[in-house]
Amino acid sequence: MRIDIITIFPEMFEGPFNHSIVKRSQQKGVVEIHLHQLRDYSTNKHKNVDDAPFGGGAGMVMMIEPVANCIEKLKAERNYDSIIYTSPDGELLNQKKANNLSLLKNIIILCGHYKGIDERIREHYITEEISIGNYVLSGGELAAAVIADSVIRLIPGVLNDETSALSDSFQDDLVSPPTYTRPSDYKGLKVPEILLSGNEKVINQWKHEQSVERTKKRRPEMI
Ligand code: ADE
Repeated sequence: MRIDIITIFPEMFEGPFNHSIVKRSQQKGVVEIHLHQLRDYSTNKHKNVDDAPFGGGAGMVMMIEPVANCIEKLKAERNYDSIIYTSPDGELLNQKKANNLSLLKNIIILCGHYKGIDERIREHYITEEISIGNYVLSGGELAAAVIADSVIRLIPGVLNDETSALSDSFQDDLVSPPTYTRPSDYKGLKVPEILLSGNEKVINQWKHEQSVERTKKRRPEMI
């Protein structure tokens, strides 16, 4: 999978993309992430990418021209399955959406900024808009990193133990069961006996029951 991210803050991705599973996925060659500095596509001598809104109002608006230049260049090089804009008024990201995106070959994520972007970008270039939650971030970079992370870990070959993505919370519309590790008795705080029994069938049944119980209690809207 190839992910192209258009942003005015490419440095913001250094942390999330250079560690752990996302880093490994790139080293394995399963994922390519390309960051594009939007300012490089500005034709303006000051490399501006925003301007005051027509009709007045507070804040600056991302201009169509640099975004169009960047997207057109990328589209001339390959076909894109989706061109995503990160926005608090987009469709809420969930596990199903992440699963669907993980099946795609090439995607672009445009990080929103300022008071918004020229509506013509949304109308003519963007194929879907995604929000990562009902709150407003300072920009779309963190949202883009969250989207990329949730998608990348689902691509076959990214996780060492393939079943571990399948057993994630939400993957089967249930949250994960409780997990424990050594020691089995920490100052009297004991691990449930059943997990020490070695009986895989009984353990799996217990985990499933725990998942159902937890989902009912913590996330009843999922049932
Ligand atoms: N940009 C600002 N807030 C956002 C959010 N909640 N989701 C996606 N992009 C955003």
